[in-house]
Amino acid sequence: MKKTILAIESSCDETSVSIVENGKTEICTIVNSQIDIHSNYGGVVPEIASRKHVENITIVIDNCLKKSGYTMDMIDMIAVTYGPGLIGSLLIGVEAAKSLAFIYKKPLIPVHHIKGHIYASNLSNDLKFPLIALVVSGGHSELVYMKSDYLFEKIGGTLDDAVGEAYDKVARVCKLDYPGGPVIDKLSLLGKDTYNLPIPLDDDSFNFSFSGLKSAVINLVNNEKQRGNEIRINDLCCSFQNRAVHILVKKTIKAAKKYKVSNIVLAGGVAANKQLRKTLFEKCDLYNYNLFIPKIEHCTDNAAMIGAAAFAAYKKGIYADLSLNAKSTVNLYKEFNND
Ligand code: KG4
Ligand code: ZN
Repeated sequence: MKKTILAIESSCDETSVSIVENGKTEICTIVNSQIDIHSNYGGVVPEIASRKHVENITIVIDNCLKKSGYTMDMIDMIAVTYGPGLIGSLLIGVEAAKSLAFIYKKPLIPVHHIKGHIYASNLSNDLKFPLIALVVSGGHSELVYMKSDYLFEKIGGTLDDAVGEAYDKVARVCKLDYPGGPVIDKLSLLGKDTYNLPIPLDDDSFNFSFSGLKSAVINLVNNEKQRGNEIRINDLCCSFQNRAVHILVKKTIKAAKKYKVSNIVLAGGVAANKQLRKTLFEKCDLYNYNLFIPKIEHCTDNAAMIGAAAFAAYKKGIYADLSLNAKSTVNLYKEFNND
């Protein structure tokens, strides 16, 4: 039987609401981004983000219902990102979802943000298991092994900065716009790999470390400035991006070999990166792996991906009651009830 889910995502600086059927059909998604506000500060300011979510949440819910032509009696379940993320931001989405579930007497499904990013691919393709997912965003750089549907095992992650965070900080020191990822992605195509930067954490683990690479760029910029040398921004972007993409792709392919999977998922905001997509695609082609990448609009934070994951959670019987609380950090591989 068809299940229609109204999903809410508010873990960072996007207030998003979506209506998704059976985890596959996106009826309508509204994303209200606060990027213009936070770009004035060069990064997300948590207090401002939560205040904006309070202002936006009911308007975005109303807009989604109006635009879709759906009414609350056509909705079977409410889903919400309960973590990880900025606690003040998460709370707004969780309280809104609980209110809807209470008033309209609908079941409530809690969704882990990373699980949402992985299931974003299910909106345009049918995910195949077992798989390895590389989840890369402003807050995460993780390798996840999934043996079967909605069964997660984190096999590695960043020991310090997330890769998107490194992109944003490198952009800041180069005086480029926020968020840095899309800008560096564009400029690096115009440059050459001429700067000598380290390959970050090139070891046998499935962990990442981007703070050393980020610091190497910051030191290089400061040293060149002191010497009065001009910095070739396009070349620096290209050199930085080459190192980041190289290590992400290398460890993902190594994980696929070790876990004997032939399906790879690329997810999260940094999955919008052209070079990462191209390099991973070429490697997957070489080794005959299926590569799943969400549509660009499903890479950055959105509620459609939460609706997609929620349907898989529903099939596993994962529900929350009205005591559901937001959590800034959440274990990925434990089922919700065991958190
Ligand atoms: O998933 P997302 O919207 O939010 C988080 O959960 O963090 O990801 C945002 C991050 C930012 O750090 C942004 O710079 C990065 O994704 N990003 C990119 C690109 N587009 C967005 N990084 C590299 N290349 C891109 N094209
Ligand atoms: Zn995200």
